[in-house]
Amino acid sequence: MIYLADSANARDVRELIDLFPIEGVTTNPTIMTREKRDCGELLMEMRKTIGKDMMLHAQTMQTCAEDMVREALALNEMVGGNFYIKIPATAQGLKAIRMLKKQGMKVTATAIFSTQQALLCARAGADFVAPYVNKLSDICVDAIGVVGEIAREFENFGIETQILSASFRNVDQVNQVALMGSHAITLPVPFYEKLIAHPMTDLALAGFEADWRAVYGDKKPEDMILKA
Ligand code: E4P
Repeated sequence: MIYLADSANARDVRELIDLFPIEGVTTNPTIMTREKRDCGELLMEMRKTIGKDMMLHAQTMQTCAEDMVREALALNEMVGGNFYIKIPATAQGLKAIRMLKKQGMKVTATAIFSTQQALLCARAGADFVAPYVNKLSDICVDAIGVVGEIAREFENFGIETQILSASFRNVDQVNQVALMGSHAITLPVPFYEKLIAHPMTDLALAGFEADWRAVYGDKKPEDMILKA
């Protein structure tokens, strides 16, 4: 499973990718509005920050297929690099996905809340489908089960579309979708600290530090390298 950052803030993403093995950035209209800046500026700044090879996913705000396609092509032209247009899982979206794939665009079908939405978007040609895990849990749907069903159906039918799970509130949800076979997840930048931090790791390191210091003081292993 690969990790992406769900953010429109280039500074936050720069700090994250310096430390974590992040393979792309996703944005959505709500995340963009939080920055209170022009969408074009945000996307260009993000592209400059992450380079041309890293995936960058941005969503259309159009609702009819022809308009979605026009907007997608314009965004792709502007942002360049490894760009994915996010198309909502609607009937118009299905049409737009097919049109965009014919034009060689990379597409992420977004706002997925059911297995059938995922399957239809995959059949239309989407490269990724993005089920919203916590938003499903919020309405008492077994979100992990839905991700598992999507993964099974894709496997059953030899579909190469990948699952990019989104919308998380806790580490357990992340782990559960990984177990179900989600190929990718996207998380807000601050969430990554929750994934890596563990009190037992801190305790283990404190123990090593105390034991080492008791014998070697401030010296480090590199201070004791044997020279030939
Ligand atoms: C999809 O683009 C987002 O990752 C998703 O909407 C975030 O969901 P949340 O608002 O529940 O975090």
